[in-house]
Amino acid sequence: MKVLVTYMTQTGNTKKIADAIYDTIDDDKEIKEIKEVDNLEGYDLAFIGFPIHQFNAPDEVKKFLNNNTKNKDIALFITHGAPEDFGQVSDWISKSKEAAKGANIVDVFQCQGEVSQEIMDMLQNSDDPQMNQFAELVAAGKGQPDETKVEKAKSFARDVITQKKAWTK
Ligand SMILES: Cc1cc2nc3c(=O)[nH]c(=O)nc-3n(C[C@H](O)[C@H](O)[C@H](O)COP(=O)(O)O)c2cc1C
Repeated sequence: MKVLVTYMTQTGNTKKIADAIYDTIDDDKEIKEIKEVDNLEGYDLAFIGFPIHQFNAPDEVKKFLNNNTKNKDIALFITHGAPEDFGQVSDWISKSKEAAKGANIVDVFQCQGEVSQEIMDMLQNSDDPQMNQFAELVAAGKGQPDETKVEKAKSFARDVITQKKAWTK
C-alpha cells in the first residue's frame, strides 16, 4: 500500500500534525506540500491537511480537493484557531468535505492551532464585539497543537490505516 501525506501550512501547525501522521505510517509513504502534488494517481490512501481560513478550507485546497479526490480514499486533518468544541467548527468541516465530494472520506481529524499575531491583532482590534469575543477563545489556544493533540493525530492515523486495510483484504 502506498500512502501520501500532503498538507498546506502557513505557520507550521498543520505541518506538525502532518509530520506526526507521517511518522506513524509503516507502509510505503511520501510527505509533500499540496502545492507540490500534481494528482493522487498511484496512491492507495492520502491524508490531506490544511488550516481553516475564513470559515472554510483555503481556496487552493478546495481546488485541489475538487480536482483530485473523486473515487479516492482520503482522510482529512484540519487545524483552526477556535477550540475543538466551538459550535461553528462542524460547519467548516462540512464545507471542507463538500469540496471533496465524490471522495471516500475515511475519517476527519480536527484540532486547535495557535493563530498568528497578525490575526490576533485583527480580532482584538475589530469593532465587531463577536470578533473580540472570538479573540479570547483563540488566545486560549496558544501553544496548540500540543503533545496531547499530536498523540490524538497519531491515533487517528493508525485507525484510518487499519480501516483502509480491512476494506482491501
Ligand atoms: C487568513 C486566515 C484566516 C483564518 N480564519 C480562521 C477561521 O475562520 N476560523 C478559525 O478557527 N481559525 C482561522 N484561522 C486560524 C488558523 O486556521 C489556525 O491558526 C491554523 O492552525 C493555522 O495553521 P497553519 O499554522 O498550518 O497555517 C485563520 C488564519 C488565517 C491566517
